[in-house]
Amino acid sequence: MSDAETCFRWISDPQVTRMLGLTRPIRSLAQERAWIAAILADSRQQRLFIVADENGRAIGTCGLRGIDEAQGVAYLGIMIGEKSLWDRGYGTSATTALLAYAFGDLGLREVRLSCHRDNHRALRCYEKAGFLPSRHEAVPRRLERPELRMAITRGRWEEPRD
Ligand SMILES: CC(C)(COP(=O)(O)OP(=O)(O)OC[C@H]1O[C@@H](n2cnc3c(N)ncnc32)[C@H](O)[C@@H]1OP(=O)(O)O)[C@@H](O)C(=O)NCCC(=O)NCCS
Repeated sequence: MSDAETCFRWISDPQVTRMLGLTRPIRSLAQERAWIAAILADSRQQRLFIVADENGRAIGTCGLRGIDEAQGVAYLGIMIGEKSLWDRGYGTSATTALLAYAFGDLGLREVRLSCHRDNHRALRCYEKAGFLPSRHEAVPRRLERPELRMAITRGRWEEPRD
């Protein structure tokens, strides 16, 4: 919650949020705090993390939603809010760390996501982290532009990669 103001600054930047497909855009710091509070209160189905750089500075968020322990499935989301730091590997690094949490700590069997087809930077980030195109059905949100669904299984995550 202490990062709420920073998060609000990030999601107030259209260049950052253009690709997020937020179903309910956040327009005030109070809404941002309420959004974070709702996630913190629902830790069974959602987890939200700050992405920090090497110096511990907050540069973005990532998380899991729709965590279904019975099915062993969750949906990943990520935003590097400091856009001057895009294309330096932070997104892939954070995604990889979140997968270690999902498969290791939570013991899930598959992590899924949906992404705008024209979000080439994100698609490349997910590809580097090991995601493959997927045909999974349910997604907890609708994107307004054509989307690509991707997923990674625990088995694929465990395979050695470069
Ligand atoms: C998507 C996002 C999380 C990626 O984080 P990042 O730190 O920029 O990602 P990385 O640096 O790890 O990887 C980006 C890759 O995309 C590549 N890339 C950048 N622009 C590209 C483009 N137009 N076409 C193809 N690849 C592109 C980069 O070169 C890099 O690949 P490389 O390492 O092979 O050179 C971040 O850019 C972001 O938060 N964007 C805004 C919010 C968003 O789109 N979130 C995802 C919603 S699904």
